[in-house]
Amino acid sequence: MSKMIAMEVPQAGAKLQRVEREIPKPSPKQLLIKIDACGVCHSDSLTVEGHIPGIVYPRVPGHEVIGVVQEVGSVVEGWKPGDRIGVGWFGGSCGYCTRCCKGDSFACSNITAFTGLTSDGGYATHMLADVSAAAHVPSDLDEVESAPLLCAGVTTFNALRNSGARPGDLVAILGVGGLGHLAVQFAARQGFRTVAVNRGRDKEELIRSLGAHDYIDTTKGDPAEALQKMGGAKAILATVTSADAMQSVLGGLGPNGTMMVIGAVSGFPINTLDMLSKRSSVRGWYSGVAIDSEETLDFSKLHKISPINEIFPFDEAQAAYDRMMSGKARFRVVLKMS
Ligand SMILES: NC(=O)c1ccc[n+]([C@@H]2O[C@H](COP(=O)([O-])OP(=O)(O)OC[C@H]3O[C@@H](n4cnc5c(N)ncnc54)[C@H](OP(=O)(O)O)[C@@H]3O)[C@@H](O)[C@H]2O)c1
Ligand SMILES: [Zn+2]
Repeated sequence: MSKMIAMEVPQAGAKLQRVEREIPKPSPKQLLIKIDACGVCHSDSLTVEGHIPGIVYPRVPGHEVIGVVQEVGSVVEGWKPGDRIGVGWFGGSCGYCTRCCKGDSFACSNITAFTGLTSDGGYATHMLADVSAAAHVPSDLDEVESAPLLCAGVTTFNALRNSGARPGDLVAILGVGGLGHLAVQFAARQGFRTVAVNRGRDKEELIRSLGAHDYIDTTKGDPAEALQKMGGAKAILATVTSADAMQSVLGGLGPNGTMMVIGAVSGFPINTLDMLSKRSSVRGWYSGVAIDSEETLDFSKLHKISPINEIFPFDEAQAAYDRMMSGKARFRVVLKMS
């Protein structure tokens, strides 16, 4: 039987380990993927550090996967060997609630797998994916350049279009890292008055060139006040990894505004008086399902949206992960398999 290579986490908190495995056979509803590229996301730390209970080790992280179908399970329809495929964090559902409920995909509570958490992910040459998690990738999107669209992209694209904001509304993107620099591009192309909010000014010029109409430096004054001076935000997309940073902008929401919380933080205090007087809300959001990924890829192609990446060879997965965790990557780290 032929072999594959994986960079697995042997146990929570351990370094990635290069291992050789047998290439698995797809079960009836699965696809075997030969991976071309996989993005490295801050959420991979859940697997690497073991931040949530129940992860079974060894486990291969990675949920921004682009590759080619190598083999299809016996009951799979709509896919054949050679098709380009993308897989994000959503690793599959019962199979009845993703493709047919467009517009209300989050009604599905029957998510059965999270790529790289409950099943092995994309830090590997091959992986299995449930067909309900599979997104078609347009033929002319570069696999290495586009891999981050499968998590950083779909998460921000989807959160923005479900935030309640409409074209012309003021939308703030809090944090312009891996997710935020894509969020700025999506927000501007979705027609929002887009304001980027980040500490310092070193990214300002670049972020404006990606489409931000305004920029707030959180180290120079109160960012909530600055947003209120602009009329109050209809939506704030909070991509920062700091609860304090989220709290400092929450008061910048306008009436009926919504903060879409994307960054995984704990201990985020909320001023309920301010919120009830504005009828504002705080809403958590995870990325999306396969159809959301396909729509993110299509929208990105149409509007020429792409992440800015640092590309690492597959063998340097640990260095790639460390670079991502340093917070210094500009902006997304991607593993290239060959
Ligand atoms: N909800 C979902 O489905 C989903 C999907 C993917 C990722 N995530 C989560 O989203 C978050 C962002 O991921 P990412 O890959 O974009 O991370 P990232 O590239 O490291 O960006 C983090 C951003 O947060 C800012 N930041 C960090 N610490 C801060 C502090 N103390 N005060 C103010 N700003 C601070 C950084 O500012 P500087 O530029 O100044 O460093 C940067 O703009 C992570 O928590 C990740 O797990 C969630
Ligand atoms: Zn992710």
